[in-house]
Amino acid sequence: MRVERLEYEGFRNLETGSIQPVPEVNILYGQNGQGKTNLLESIWFFTGGRSFRGAKDSDTVGFGQEKASLKMDFFAQDRSQQAEINIEKRRSASLEGISLPSATHLAGTFCAVVFSPAHLTLIKDGPDGRRRFLDAAYCQLRPGYMRVLAEYQRILTQRNALLKNIRNGQRAEGLEIWDERLAEAGARVFAARTAYIRKMTPAVKNIYSGISGGKENIEIEYSSAAGDISVLPEEARQRLLSLLKENVCVDTEAGFTTIGPHRDDLVVDIDGKAARFFASQGQQRSAVLALKLAEASVLKQVTGEQPVALLDDVMSELDPARQDYVLNHIHGWQVFLTCCDPSPVMKMNGGRVFHVDKGRITDMTSERGV
Ligand SMILES: Nc1ncnc2c1ncn2[C@@H]1O[C@H](COP(=O)(O)OP(=O)(O)O)[C@@H](O)[C@H]1O
Ligand SMILES: [Mg+2]
Repeated sequence: MRVERLEYEGFRNLETGSIQPVPEVNILYGQNGQGKTNLLESIWFFTGGRSFRGAKDSDTVGFGQEKASLKMDFFAQDRSQQAEINIEKRRSASLEGISLPSATHLAGTFCAVVFSPAHLTLIKDGPDGRRRFLDAAYCQLRPGYMRVLAEYQRILTQRNALLKNIRNGQRAEGLEIWDERLAEAGARVFAARTAYIRKMTPAVKNIYSGISGGKENIEIEYSSAAGDISVLPEEARQRLLSLLKENVCVDTEAGFTTIGPHRDDLVVDIDGKAARFFASQGQQRSAVLALKLAEASVLKQVTGEQPVALLDDVMSELDPARQDYVLNHIHGWQVFLTCCDPSPVMKMNGGRVFHVDKGRITDMTSERGV
């Protein structure tokens, strides 16, 4: 999977123009507020996803402009394809000149993973971000998992409503049925997440080892009420069921379900210590990068397509050896990387460099003499 050409008009602060990236590393450098992240956002839109900055579609239309349009030539499924996105109040899209019912229908045609500084919360913050990461990653592999999750959530909501009623003095009628159902749906969530962790672990370890020059070891582990990763789905179901029964008094008092996959976590350790509490900024950044790149690598194993990597501001806080890994050792996939300081970029072998200045993007290839 790679971007061959990108054209932009009226998008954010970008001056109308186009770029022709190379299949390897593409650097976008420039001072703050020049449009580097805006360009990554425009590429990301072709995944069919929402803005990774949480922006509304209409926010991305340039100030004072009626509409924005993006055109991309990309290579996927062994052929060149073309997609177009038009944004007014909302986004609309076409693929090979044919209008799609909505821009989200681009999903699965063009794929990318994005690292943005906001994703550092993946390590730093509480477990819900990590659960969402696992669930979203697995949904990309098995879209049917979305229904499994929705079903678990629906049953959980029902059980919680019943617990609240019991707390308010109603009889505990029907609770057993909800226990059974929740344990069953919970075991399916458990099975999906542990399957995904099993798939991604070798890639995470391998990439993290590369970033840290083999000096540090990362471990990821699923921390679940249903047991560890070796537990079979049927055991997980039984275990969840008995825990729900054991915790009935606690749950009734709380008025909600206190154990289950909605409380589980993906624990990340670096050299045996919880990264969330003990890792440095640079180590946390490296860990998030390893998780994101591993997500791409699993996607490649399953679909045969290597997603494009969009790495926003990943270089700051990385020491020169880690920067060198990002620039020179990610082989076989296309990378777009933004940075303010162009000096590490000059140590890159090959690749293409673009300067971003007040929304104007200039290919610096001839200036670097490569
Ligand atoms: N809809 C828009 N129209 C025009 N300019 C915008 C729009 N949205 C954001 N900007 C401008 O884009 C700039 C930020 O671009 P960004 O890509 O985030 O910068 P950076 O190069 O630091 O990554 C800001 O100056 C902001 O005012
Ligand atoms: Mg930026």
